[in-house]
Amino acid sequence: MTEGFVPLKIAGVGYCVPETVITNEDLKKLYDTSDEWIYTRTGIKERRVVSGNETAIDLGYKAAKDAIEKSGISADEIDCIIGASSAPPQIYPTLACHMQERFGIKKKIPAFDMTAACTGLIYALQIARGFIGAGIYKTILIVASDNNSKITDWEDRGTSILFGDGAGAMVVTASDDGIDDILAIDISADGSIGQLIQTNLPGQCCPLVEQADEEGNGKIIMNGKEVYKFAVSTVPSYVEHCISLSGMTSEEIDYLIPHQANQRIIESIQNRLKYSDDKVISNIKYYGNTSAASIPIALVEGVQQGKIKLNTTAVLCGFGAGMTWGAAVVRLREGIC
Ligand code: COA
Repeated sequence: MTEGFVPLKIAGVGYCVPETVITNEDLKKLYDTSDEWIYTRTGIKERRVVSGNETAIDLGYKAAKDAIEKSGISADEIDCIIGASSAPPQIYPTLACHMQERFGIKKKIPAFDMTAACTGLIYALQIARGFIGAGIYKTILIVASDNNSKITDWEDRGTSILFGDGAGAMVVTASDDGIDDILAIDISADGSIGQLIQTNLPGQCCPLVEQADEEGNGKIIMNGKEVYKFAVSTVPSYVEHCISLSGMTSEEIDYLIPHQANQRIIESIQNRLKYSDDKVISNIKYYGNTSAASIPIALVEGVQQGKIKLNTTAVLCGFGAGMTWGAAVVRLREGIC
């Protein structure tokens, strides 16, 4: 750790998923598919979607409330909010500003969203680490919430089988005992392959000038095969690289908590690290891909289900549109979930 760098404590982690479940059987009402086809290729059996007036803001608020309660820190002590969302219901006000309003935080603190798609949580953690490390802010709320069902093309059977809605949140703060919970973190991107997953917003032209009329419909367009190849060729070795930055060996790390995109991608990382099943946290079967929220959902649920013991370490890794990717080796303290 650089001298003078303030160590970071992960103080609380929370999540929220909507009640409504869409099973693979349900998808057969939309197009020709089968549970067997979807499950063998992705590991997904069902996903959750918002219903009625519920939005990613509501999910994000519940996840953040959960994380704040677990942290033992009051909402008024938060001095920065970072939203990680690639499918918010509004571009602005941002998810982060909505959180400030929902929690009734009267202090004039910074609140902003950043988009790194399914790597959003790791990017936000790295940004928070920079702020806390430099002594700029002491306590930061990270909220990752995605309304994927709103940007899913429900006629496209190659993408709509994959995504679900959900939210996760983390409260991170300057460590009061000198121990840094981030043992290593790294984030990366390659814009030259950005066309592999795109969402083009609909818009209109200014009537006063000639403008390119790009016909976006706001829905996910994905080259599934190429994304799959990218993930299995890039992520496993990258996770190993990040582990080496921590000075630990993969055997010394207790858990792998990966972004939940596809069970076969998760297994490619697992095989690289030579981890047994009990070290790898996967809940993709029940939630599909919830973008930036998938890591905190897997972490908290893993603890609740007894798959993860606290006072341990984990390697988190994310990857997704951009293309972006990132990984972090973290300490999981007692009481955070
Ligand atoms: N049910 C039944 N058949 C389907 C189908 C579905 N839901 N979706 C596609 N098919 C068909 C295709 O039409 C194609 O038929 P054809 O050979 O007659 O043309 C065939 O199945 C194979 O399609 P393909 O797209 O090549 O399948 P795939 O083996 O690449 O699997 C994914 C598709 C999406 C499951 C896979 O590519 C994947 O998981 N990619 C990674 C995506 C991802 O993780 N994105 C998020 C990253 S954060």
